[in-house]
Amino acid sequence: MPLMEPDEAAIAAGARALANGRLVAFPTETVYGLGAHALDSEAVAGIFAAKGRPTDHPLICHVASTDALAPLVAEVTPTAQELADAFWPGPLTLVMPRSDAVPDAVTGGRDTVAVRVPAHPVALALLRAFGGPVAAPSANRFGRPSPTSASDVADELEDAVAVILDGGPCEIGIESTVLDLTCDPPQVLRPGRISAEQVEQVLGGPVNAVASGPARAPGMLESHYAPGARVEVVAADLVGARAAALDASGVRVAVLAPDAVEGLPAAALVLGPAGSPDHYAARLYAAFRRADAEGAGVILAVPPPAAGIGVAVRDRLQRASAGR
Ligand code: TXA
Ligand code: MG
Repeated sequence: MPLMEPDEAAIAAGARALANGRLVAFPTETVYGLGAHALDSEAVAGIFAAKGRPTDHPLICHVASTDALAPLVAEVTPTAQELADAFWPGPLTLVMPRSDAVPDAVTGGRDTVAVRVPAHPVALALLRAFGGPVAAPSANRFGRPSPTSASDVADELEDAVAVILDGGPCEIGIESTVLDLTCDPPQVLRPGRISAEQVEQVLGGPVNAVASGPARAPGMLESHYAPGARVEVVAADLVGARAAALDASGVRVAVLAPDAVEGLPAAALVLGPAGSPDHYAARLYAAFRRADAEGAGVILAVPPPAAGIGVAVRDRLQRASAGR
């Protein structure tokens, strides 16, 4: 049983496993990561095998501090330094031209690398104990929602990992903001807790936010964010009627909404109220997983307002609804 309380011995065991080319699942403030020694191509190949993920999908390199960025990138530009100072440790991933140290296995053969310093004490302890960069995508099987608890990871990847460090539920609950610094102005490839506006404030210049739509970042497939149930994004005032219609046609309906919804069919699975956009983000993937576990055919999701992390939640709902 690889699931471990993240005490000193478990962190040391995780660091040893990484050094030996094995996989270690660890908590971050966003979602759980499936980590491997980033400079060991064979170890990184193990991530793709465990996840069933296509090998041209690039991975994020996790490091313990901004000092550890320089060896991975061609140059630490003033922009990168400013953003690191402002947001690291934290849920912002920076895409930059890579150095020769980073293997093709990590970048999917691209000449850029994605890097972040996670804001979670267990992740940081593991990274410090290991002493090098850790390549880690979200610790789910390909095509499943990202895991936000250690048991989510164990359900899907227990056999593939040496250690799962149990850090409890993830605080943010959706993946980091991915910002491409190889273009001018910088471009958000994946929205997250840190908004384009927050980045603009730090840089004192424009940042291209993304509208929802087809994947901009390599490997950011719609289906990547989808549960088994079909997701329908609906307005709050229409959810009751839609739930009744689906229920009448024999479909098990799950409902996820910021506020309590009145007048749902008795058989409906109520996944909320999800509350504020931050709470909604923190509960989103657990709600998807619960709907699947309870055999829901359709999830009716009322989106949060498009402000702050609400933008990112709406992006994930959109992808989930397009994914099946
Ligand atoms: O919050 C997160 O970012 C989590 C935790 C574990 O840190 N990780 C995560 O990894 O979400 P993953 O592999 O599921 O998503 C990484 C995404 C890729 O799908 C891709 O969109 C983008 O980061 N990415 C990675 N390297 C890139 C590159 N060189 N150029 C452009 N996008 C890249
Ligand atoms: Mg992922």
